[in-house]
Amino acid sequence: MEGQEKQVTGYLLFSLATAVIGSLQFGYNTGVINAPEQKLRSFFNDTWMERYGEPISQGVQTIVWSVAVAIFSVGGMVGSFSVGVMANQFGRRRSMFLVNSLAVIGGLLMGFSTICSSYEMVIAGRLVIGLFCGLFTGLTPMYVGEVSPTPLRGAFGTLHQLGVVVGILIAQIFGLEALLGSDKLWPLLLALTVAPAVLQCILLPFCPESPRFLLINLKQEEQARKALVRLRGTEDVSKDLQEMKEESAKMAMEKKVTIAELFRSAAYRQPLLIAVMLQLSQQLSGINAVFYYSTGIFDSAGVKQPIYATIGAGIVNTVFTVVSLFLVEKAGRRTLHLLGLGGMAISALLMTVSLLLKHVPAMSYMAIIAVMLFVAMFELGPGPIPWFIVAELFSQGPRPAAMAVAGCCNWTANFLVGMSFPKLEELCGPWVFLIFTAFLIIFFIFTFIKVPETKGKTFDEIARSFGSAPPAASSSTEEPPATSSFYV
Ligand code: GLC
Repeated sequence: MEGQEKQVTGYLLFSLATAVIGSLQFGYNTGVINAPEQKLRSFFNDTWMERYGEPISQGVQTIVWSVAVAIFSVGGMVGSFSVGVMANQFGRRRSMFLVNSLAVIGGLLMGFSTICSSYEMVIAGRLVIGLFCGLFTGLTPMYVGEVSPTPLRGAFGTLHQLGVVVGILIAQIFGLEALLGSDKLWPLLLALTVAPAVLQCILLPFCPESPRFLLINLKQEEQARKALVRLRGTEDVSKDLQEMKEESAKMAMEKKVTIAELFRSAAYRQPLLIAVMLQLSQQLSGINAVFYYSTGIFDSAGVKQPIYATIGAGIVNTVFTVVSLFLVEKAGRRTLHLLGLGGMAISALLMTVSLLLKHVPAMSYMAIIAVMLFVAMFELGPGPIPWFIVAELFSQGPRPAAMAVAGCCNWTANFLVGMSFPKLEELCGPWVFLIFTAFLIIFFIFTFIKVPETKGKTFDEIARSFGSAPPAASSSTEEPPATSSFYV
């Protein structure tokens, strides 16, 4: 497939952009809750006063606040876990369409919470939005991976992460007091997620269903061909069709793989381990310790105006995702992931030094540089790659189940880091980033030993490289394949 022409059409870009609205939503809802913290806390207090005639205690207020923040990840875990069932049942495109109803429900719950004097509506809204985002962290990378031409699958795969980081940045900017982060407007800030959901629903009917889903899952060859012709802008789509048919033929008995089957089959063990470890490397790198708590980190390193440093980190984040987009098809996934993890480990050490020596005035600059470097290195590889590489490591049959497992691991690790970082910081003080350094070194070694390069390979070639092509066609899907090197 190396020599295949790179076919980028306006229609392909339009379809990708439409799908990536889901990534934007994930980023927006990740970032949106930080700025209005104080406004939400006083809303909880006012509601309490109205109901019980006394102010809310500090302890209860913190509990309500933490629940409102954390329940998003719980929703994310459940949502990401459900992605396989939905994507197989309704297809990729229709799933994205249906899932948007969750954004509308969640957005309205949060938007009307003040009018109804109900902080429960904020919590319920965050849960529903978490479900919504969890589903999209599977659906978008899956759709993007399936419609992209092989030579550009990595570059386009990075678009998911680009959507996420732009979403975070938009949330940071809209959350400013002068814009939507004010006393009156914060419910609108939280409800704004409804707008992109409606927009995506308007655009989706103009996008094609994934041709791989049409051909391999539904056996609608003519429909798949039509979709490909429009996506590639040429009548001659025989190469793509041929590749899908080969995959389809090998997978005759393996149209859908459930999560239980995914774990039972020895053939999937290796790619599943890699998929899960890459997700863990993304989250246990500590990136969200920075994204959730950077202002506090800068503050304790003696930075004078931490909020600007935080926005600076958001900008570096976006710029380096674009850098990765251009590098990923040249340098490859493995190299960039290794470079990113190694660079992050060094940055975490620099961070530790600057926290330890914070009485030295110049150290606050070092802290800023260390965080920027940390974020930049993250976006080179560990940010974008884990999201799209899962779609690459598995063929059509097991892909949705694998996305579900990987996504759920990602959300769980995200939840754990988010919840435990303040406590860890309390316990370890300036040494806290060494925990992440240790994880980063472990994941570096793992990636070096286990992760193959997937650049430029078809899904089928990747499956073969594991010696893990689909199970024997004669057996039922219940049966794991006899050996892991069936097609080699
Ligand atoms: C990735 C992570 C997400 C993080 C973001 C930061 O998408 O999955 O948790 O907040 O990158 O850019």
